[in-house]
Amino acid sequence: MKKINSSLFKSVMSKFPTGVAIITINNNNNYFGKTVNSFASVSLNPPLVLFSLEKQSSSLKDYTKSSFFGINILSRKQKKLSIFFSKLKPKWGDTKFFLSKNNIPLIEGSVANLNCKNNKTFSHGDHIIFICKILEGQINTKLRPLVYLNSNYL
Ligand SMILES: Cc1cc2nc3c(=O)[nH]c(=O)nc-3n(C[C@H](O)[C@H](O)[C@H](O)COP(=O)(O)O)c2cc1C
Repeated sequence: MKKINSSLFKSVMSKFPTGVAIITINNNNNYFGKTVNSFASVSLNPPLVLFSLEKQSSSLKDYTKSSFFGINILSRKQKKLSIFFSKLKPKWGDTKFFLSKNNIPLIEGSVANLNCKNNKTFSHGDHIIFICKILEGQINTKLRPLVYLNSNYL
C-alpha cells in the first residue's frame, strides 16, 4: 500500500466506472448545465440523491442559489453534450430541452430526467454537497447510459 496523495486518489477513483449526468438550473431565465459523475442515490424514503461541486467552480453561486435542479442521466449518444457542459461557463447553445413544471430545463434524449428540490447543502473538504429530493422523473428505456471510466467515455 502507498501513502495517499492527489494523484493516487484520482487514479484510484478513475477505476470506478460511473454514469454521467448534467445538472441543470434556471437562474432568472438563464439556463446552466454542468457535467458531473458525483451523482449518487442517498435515500429511498424520502427519495434523495446527491451530487457534489468543486468550491472553485465558476458557477457555484448559481447552483447554491437554486432551489430546484434538473438531473439528466446521459445516454451513449450524448458524449458531445458531456464534453460541452464540462467547459468553463458553457452557453446553452442549441441543446434541445423541455421545461419542467417549475421551469427547470431538462435535456431531451437523456436516459432519465429528474426534477429535484434542493433539500440540504453542506460544505465538506473542497466540495459543496447538494442533497436533493426527487419530485418527478422519467426514463427512456430504449437508450443505453454513457459510462465514464479511466478518464474516458465508454
Ligand atoms: C465526466 C466528468 C465528470 C465531472 N464530474 C464533476 C463533479 O462531480 N463535480 C464537479 O464539480 N465537476 C465535475 N466535472 C467538471 C465540471 O464539469 C466542469 O468542468 C468544472 O466544474 C469546471 O467548470 P466551471 O468552473 O464552470 O464549473 C466533471 C467533468 C467531467 C468531464
